[in-house]
Amino acid sequence: MAPDTGTHTLPAGGGMIDGKTTALYSLPAKWYHDPSVYEAERWGIFARTWQFLAPESDLPNPGDYTAVEFAGFKVFVLRDREGKLKAFHNLCPHRAAPLFAEGSGHCDVLRCRYHGWAFDHDGKLKAAPYFGDADWFRKEDHGLKPVRLDVWRGFVFVNLDGKAPPLLEFLGDVPALVAPYPIEGFKKKDIADFSIKTNWKVYTDNFVEGYHIPGIHPGLIQAIDFNKFETTYQRNVVIMKAPQKEGSIYGGLWLWIWPNMTLSVYPDGMNASRIVPHGPRFTTLHYSFYFQDLSPALDAGQRRTIETNCQIVREDFGICEDAQSNFEAGVFQRGPMSPRHELGVHYFHDEIRAALKDQGVTE
Ligand SMILES: [Fe+2]
Repeated sequence: MAPDTGTHTLPAGGGMIDGKTTALYSLPAKWYHDPSVYEAERWGIFARTWQFLAPESDLPNPGDYTAVEFAGFKVFVLRDREGKLKAFHNLCPHRAAPLFAEGSGHCDVLRCRYHGWAFDHDGKLKAAPYFGDADWFRKEDHGLKPVRLDVWRGFVFVNLDGKAPPLLEFLGDVPALVAPYPIEGFKKKDIADFSIKTNWKVYTDNFVEGYHIPGIHPGLIQAIDFNKFETTYQRNVVIMKAPQKEGSIYGGLWLWIWPNMTLSVYPDGMNASRIVPHGPRFTTLHYSFYFQDLSPALDAGQRRTIETNCQIVREDFGICEDAQSNFEAGVFQRGPMSPRHELGVHYFHDEIRAALKDQGVTE
């Protein structure tokens, strides 16, 4: 079966060529820039899944908060006066202003800077200053909108529509894969944020395959045994592994977790990231780096690890942005995927297909 040229329709997940070779074709090019597809992804993927927001260690004290945005949804997580984590839409119910700018901080009262409305840590409206007398207005009707929250091994997640399976179930085979690593003992050392002018799926496609390593990552190819690079997938996770050569900074286990979290574990630490869409053509990446031991003696080596990691992340941007422009130009429709190296892309695309089908978007 040929790729979709308008006359053929591919079965979900690809098809067979001459009934023999598994042929896996990528998503239609249009899905990488069409605003209506992006809108379907916002509600069909980002509102419905568990989204990793922050490590719990970012919020040690009552009043600490972290505000993030993904796919246009603004959310914050707060440690309340009793020490419990709570999450809310970052949205004043009066005139829709966000309560916090993106980032972390500390607050005693949640106060909207637009008109001064103030909320308690449980989201209840405490004061609407200068509102005036109105017998129809009841403060209890205008609290913050709560968001479902859960924590897995120190990572705080939220689920906007409240209907995702319980977090542990949603994480599929991730907990078992990460079980051998003492990640709760890892301490956050640094963060790195990036932006890339592509659809979030262009960057994700790139993340879940090692096929491009020889072409794009001259340093990384030296550090691993590429002939033994292995990509597999299990429930809600793509697993990439490669034997490491002497001196490599990696532990050789790279995980990507549906729909947009990554977790790379190395011998003395890890990094976690969020791949965050902001519209059909713009994506940000938010990395945090953790190590077992933050002693000053280890600082220089850890800084090198972080920089090497960031360098590899940046190496992908040019090629991804160039591919994005070809996705938009209308000539390319979709391409075949390597059964040897692109099973992760195939898995990701099938999840996208299923989620979008639920929203009425079909190929
Ligand atoms: Fe890469």
